[in-house]
Amino acid sequence: MSGIDMTVELGGLRLKNPVMPASGTFAEELTHVLDISRFGAVVTKSVTPEARLGNPGPRVAETAAGMINAVGIQSKGADAFLAHTVPFYRRFDVPLIASISAETADQFAALAAKLSVDGVAALEVNISCPNLEDDGRSFAMDPGQTARVLEKIRRVTDLPLFAKLTPNTGDIVAVALAAEQAGADAVVIANTILAMAIDVETRRPKVGNGMGGLSGPAIKPIIVRMVYQAARRLRVPIIGCGGICSAEDAIEYMLAGATAVQVGTYTFLQPAGMLDILAGMEAYALRHGVTRIRDLVGAVEWPTRREQVSTNSSDRLGGGGGIMACGV
Ligand SMILES: Cc1cc2nc3c(=O)[nH]c(=O)nc-3n(C[C@H](O)[C@H](O)[C@H](O)COP(=O)(O)O)c2cc1C
Repeated sequence: MSGIDMTVELGGLRLKNPVMPASGTFAEELTHVLDISRFGAVVTKSVTPEARLGNPGPRVAETAAGMINAVGIQSKGADAFLAHTVPFYRRFDVPLIASISAETADQFAALAAKLSVDGVAALEVNISCPNLEDDGRSFAMDPGQTARVLEKIRRVTDLPLFAKLTPNTGDIVAVALAAEQAGADAVVIANTILAMAIDVETRRPKVGNGMGGLSGPAIKPIIVRMVYQAARRLRVPIIGCGGICSAEDAIEYMLAGATAVQVGTYTFLQPAGMLDILAGMEAYALRHGVTRIRDLVGAVEWPTRREQVSTNSSDRLGGGGGIMACGV
């Protein structure tokens, strides 16, 4: 035990630490190889009202610093979730966050009501999925659609609501503010970035769906920027998600303004990586004399004018070799 207070508060939900898996990247099988009760929370794969097959394969493609996935929300449906997933996670001492996905605002509300049961600690609303009432654009591309769906969900549940936003929007701050005003207790920034890769030998897209979502280290600086921008305007906490592969990455998100973090793609590379990240965060806190991890939230510091002038002369690219350090 390090003696560091690792607890954080997310919209009425108190977590023993800020680290949790990102939706869709964590499987029940991993509970056999690592102690998931050490996580701050568990987030499930997005569940849809009815069972869905998802997209045709191949569903994932490796990129220089991450991966493109086009899984397409494969889901066993809400009944199977209630019958199997909720009881499965009850045996672990960890809050269960149910990620929900639907194609219309009414479907979202009905699903949220159905999953507001004992054993579900919070709902994460995946509004990065196509909205059939808006020509397939995702809800979270637009502040108005974001508010509309969250208001409907807010009316039917008392569970903490986390709105998972998409980086595929022109104005992340406007969307995050709309989610907050409509009753979200926290926002997750963010889902994957719309991307494409083509195999030049076959001339075919590398994922069966043509386009997919880019995740992993390639997206981290973009999402850190979004977290920073949103944190300056929001009152509700932010969960940072995108490319986290180390304790330092997680700390960087907290300094930018995230209260908690989610780890996705890195788990495919290092199934027990989240526990290393947690240990590394405690070591960082010890090294820096931080007694409460939550004190790091938004604690980025800016150089003084004088320091800026003295470092301008040494502008250069550093590292270089780290570019692909944890691509999959
Ligand atoms: C294979 C795969 C499946 C995913 N499935 C979901 C999902 O069902 N729901 C969701 O909200 N996000 C899903 N995501 C997005 C992740 O939760 C996360 O937002 C994204 O991968 C960025 O984090 P990362 O760079 O740490 O992976 C998925 C990502 C991957 C790679």
